[in-house]
Amino acid sequence: MNILLVGGGGREHTLSWKIKKSNLCDQLFIAPGNAGTAQFGVNIAISVNDFESLAYFCLSNKIEMLIVGPEEPLVKGIYNFFKDSAATAHIQVIGPSKKAAQLEGSKAFAKAFMDRYKIPTAAYKEFDAATYEDGITYIRNHTLPIVLKADGLAAGKGVIICNNHIEALAEFQLMIQHSKFGEAGKRVVVEQFLDGIEVSIFVLTDGKNYVVLPEAKDYKKIGKGDRGPNTGGMGAVSPVPFVDAAYMEIVTQKIIKPTIEGLQKEALDYKGFVFIGLINVAGEPFVIEYNCRLGDPETEVIIPRIENDLVEILSATAQQRLNEISIITSPQIAVTVMAVSGGYPNEHETGKVITGLTETKLEGTMIFHAGTRQEGDKVLTNGGRVLAVTSFGSTIAEAAEQSNYMLEQLHFDDMYYREDIGYEFR
Ligand code: AMP
Ligand code: GLY
Repeated sequence: MNILLVGGGGREHTLSWKIKKSNLCDQLFIAPGNAGTAQFGVNIAISVNDFESLAYFCLSNKIEMLIVGPEEPLVKGIYNFFKDSAATAHIQVIGPSKKAAQLEGSKAFAKAFMDRYKIPTAAYKEFDAATYEDGITYIRNHTLPIVLKADGLAAGKGVIICNNHIEALAEFQLMIQHSKFGEAGKRVVVEQFLDGIEVSIFVLTDGKNYVVLPEAKDYKKIGKGDRGPNTGGMGAVSPVPFVDAAYMEIVTQKIIKPTIEGLQKEALDYKGFVFIGLINVAGEPFVIEYNCRLGDPETEVIIPRIENDLVEILSATAQQRLNEISIITSPQIAVTVMAVSGGYPNEHETGKVITGLTETKLEGTMIFHAGTRQEGDKVLTNGGRVLAVTSFGSTIAEAAEQSNYMLEQLHFDDMYYREDIGYEFR
């Protein structure tokens, strides 16, 4: 079948690499893709939110499966756009409906959903302009630290952890009265701070059945030892050492099953990935967020560990046959290390020439492009996060060292990466 993959980051490069291994895929197109995805398919210059052009492209190229990488088109309703039109309704769309994507698109929706199904999460209350004064009182009386979350999508910046009340009140005011995060922050979830280690759990569901994919741990801070501002993710490891069978059983009973049952009870059409961000507090998992897609850079470590044919499992998802699928996970340990532009996550330059991409070949190491573009025979940087170097190893230390070694062979001006990904497990 012909497949169109929507997105253009490290997640999509990894997915395109995996899709091309499948005998079920004839032609692969990526919109808009990057210099890396072009190794496995044809990049097409259509934006991820231009649903009409995507639909037209699908019809003219006999696309049978649309795989949606990023959250924005999902939250904006790409699934319904395709399903509601007779011309495109036959195309298998991997991703939730617009309503179900609210699990990521609205923190307040996600919190209320968790409340309804008794899924463990931090205590919270939500406020908007109409309840602003109540919010002020609630924050004044809240224990520290206080977590403030913009309700809507805020490109990973909408969560603020405040260590004193004055800061929390100021941020609350900025969000509600001064549109700090635009529409996304007009409603604010004020939440209890959970102290613990984070882990990303991935489930693929067809709305009725589900399979659990390998878990991962993402390193969000820019600096060594988890210091400095948050980023989109500086690296990831999979598997996560403390996530054993007993822990996964707790996660399955308390979180995964009630989540899938909740989707069914509320008739939320969901044929895609559910990414559950957990914080582990004294052995007990709490949900800090749902995402309606795969994570980045988690994809760069979990997809290489899945031994199944990805197109086969995605077809089973679209056809509600996931009960027929067993996920086969490689016992190998995967670590990915992200090379970013100097200055990221703040101001940074792009358009720098990347060298070393083809000279060194290392068994068990893959270079996934996150923010790159091709210009003639050159590959240029095209974003904050530029390359994700994934290595397999028999330990986290071995895999991380191999990725670091590969990164020493790569170069662009002001390139930076964390050498300590997986440090607490080495
Ligand atoms: P999010 O944008 O929802 O992914 O949240 C960003 C980060 O904020 C998470 O990865 C956590 O590190 C942190 N965070 C979110 N909610 C909480 C919470 N209730 N307690 C502690 N940390 C949190
Ligand atoms: N790595 C976190 C995310 O994709 O949201």
